[in-house]
Amino acid sequence: MANAILTPDKQGLDEERDAEPVIHHAPHGLSDRFALAFTKLLRVLADTFFAKRYGHRAIVLETVAAVPGMVGATIQHLTCLRRMKDDEGWIRTLMEEAENERMHLMTFIEVAKPTYFERLVVQLAQAIFYIIFFLLYLVSARTAHRLVGYFEEEAVVSYTLYLKEIDEGRSPNVPAPAIAIHYWKLPADATLRDVVLKVRADEAHHRDVNHGFASTLSGAPVDWDTASPYPPHAEEIRMNA
Ligand SMILES: [Fe+2]
Ligand SMILES: [Fe+2]
Repeated sequence: MANAILTPDKQGLDEERDAEPVIHHAPHGLSDRFALAFTKLLRVLADTFFAKRYGHRAIVLETVAAVPGMVGATIQHLTCLRRMKDDEGWIRTLMEEAENERMHLMTFIEVAKPTYFERLVVQLAQAIFYIIFFLLYLVSARTAHRLVGYFEEEAVVSYTLYLKEIDEGRSPNVPAPAIAIHYWKLPADATLRDVVLKVRADEAHHRDVNHGFASTLSGAPVDWDTASPYPPHAEEIRMNA
């Protein structure tokens, strides 16, 4: 589904671009509706601020995207210690999500250089978002995971639009950065388009994992077999390791 294999012809590219279905979790109850409304608000802000500058959009948003996994892992870790219970794999999953999002950032830094203003926005956004998300997770882990699920739905849409920009020639399909070739185990001649496909597949996986965690916390059944597959990643993210 998300882990599409690249094909060289234009028709193949178009089919591939559309291959990631738009999956939307229908909100149930106040918690889900709050998460969806907050996501839509941030989407409007992102659209206003970045318009179609997808490389810059990716840099700033990935700095925010790497926060929830680490917050969730921290609070789950502390909860497990206090309650003396097993985490059922959640902590490593969330820490890995944070690392994966950081790799998205390190990749897009090679593609688009942030302006000083964007660096300032990142610093402000991190200070505000970390505190808000931490408090939200303490109050309602379910709402926090649902929020991330909805963020990731928007991320999949954003990267699909980025692919369209590349395919229609408005964003140059530059060679993939070395860090991305290493991390996603891409061929040496891979391009930005190949990278965006992998990033989008990562986001689709995070989407399904976080919606699944939110549903689990609400007591709803989760069919994990339908989750979008995670692309293979390098075991050692350092290129010289
Ligand atoms: Fe990301
Ligand atoms: Fe993500």
